[in-house]
Amino acid sequence: MKILITGAGGQLGYDLARVFATTNYEVSTWTKEQMDVGNEQQVIDILLRERPDTVIHAAAYTNVDKAETETVLAYQVNAFGSLHIAKVCKKIGAKLVYVSTDYVFDGTKGSPYAEEDTTNPSNAYGRSKLLGEKFVQTTCSKHFIVRTSWLYGSKGNNFVTKILEKAQAGEPLTIVDDQFGSPTYTLDLAIFIRELIETDRYGIYHASNQGMCSRHAFACEILRIAQLAHIKLCPVHSDVFPLPAIRPMYSVLEHKAMVKNGFSPLRDWKSALHYFFQVVYAAD
Ligand SMILES: NC(=O)c1ccc[n+]([C@@H]2O[C@H](COP(=O)([O-])OP(=O)(O)OC[C@H]3O[C@@H](n4cnc5c(N)ncnc54)[C@H](OP(=O)(O)O)[C@@H]3O)[C@@H](O)[C@H]2O)c1
Repeated sequence: MKILITGAGGQLGYDLARVFATTNYEVSTWTKEQMDVGNEQQVIDILLRERPDTVIHAAAYTNVDKAETETVLAYQVNAFGSLHIAKVCKKIGAKLVYVSTDYVFDGTKGSPYAEEDTTNPSNAYGRSKLLGEKFVQTTCSKHFIVRTSWLYGSKGNNFVTKILEKAQAGEPLTIVDDQFGSPTYTLDLAIFIRELIETDRYGIYHASNQGMCSRHAFACEILRIAQLAHIKLCPVHSDVFPLPAIRPMYSVLEHKAMVKNGFSPLRDWKSALHYFFQVVYAAD
């Protein structure tokens, strides 16, 4: 069995490569420099040559704020790049995992979003990812759409690394306390994806670490575990911090499809964060 991973230079791609390196799968990893998913001919050439049994498509344009102005590029990568991949997967009969986002929801529901809930993205990034979902669903029947949220891992810039950098630099920390979601550790997500592709239980899955918190509570926990709890964290409302892209205020995901299809839920977000610090962050 051969697995091809896109976006291997990103934080999820990095942990996917680590997880699959410990299996008997033959693994082929591709960074943006090696394969630009927006370049259809390049995607066709590489996938036809590699002929993977499964493609895990973790590449994406992920700058949520810049996507408001670089909208064409966001669509080129997230929507049309995914279409390019889906078309070749269909042609070669490969399974396709498309990693999507909680930002396909508008955040107004007030309780956790199930897979079948109505999507209504509030920003260009979310709209481009949602169109990617539609392309994958309508092009390649052997698809898994995995929506996740608030990712962090040992590679790349994320909320955890930004909080630590600011705290260590002695910068004031002002964090919004009215946006709620579920922080998710990329290693846990990668392990779930490994389990998923061993099945043919296709469809949409919500996969995030269990539990929920505000951005402010997430930051407090990061500082507590990093033994920086003495650093002052100031909670503020989102309207104090106007950003180019509107974020959903509540994007907690319910894991209905995981439970229905017999998968174990991911551990709770505090345990995952603790593990990340104690075992991984220190060692990497
Ligand atoms: N990060 C989150 O909080 C979050 C939340 C929900 C869902 N997701 C989804 O989870 C997946 C993984 O996200 P992540 O956090 O690992 O993102 P990431 O660290 O930004 O990784 C994405 C990777 O895709 C690459 N990429 C960008 N444009 C590309 C192109 N045209 N062709 C090929 N590769 C390209 C990026 O390269 P460069 O860095 O060089 O541009 C980067 O290495 C994405 O589908 C994302 O939409 C992320």
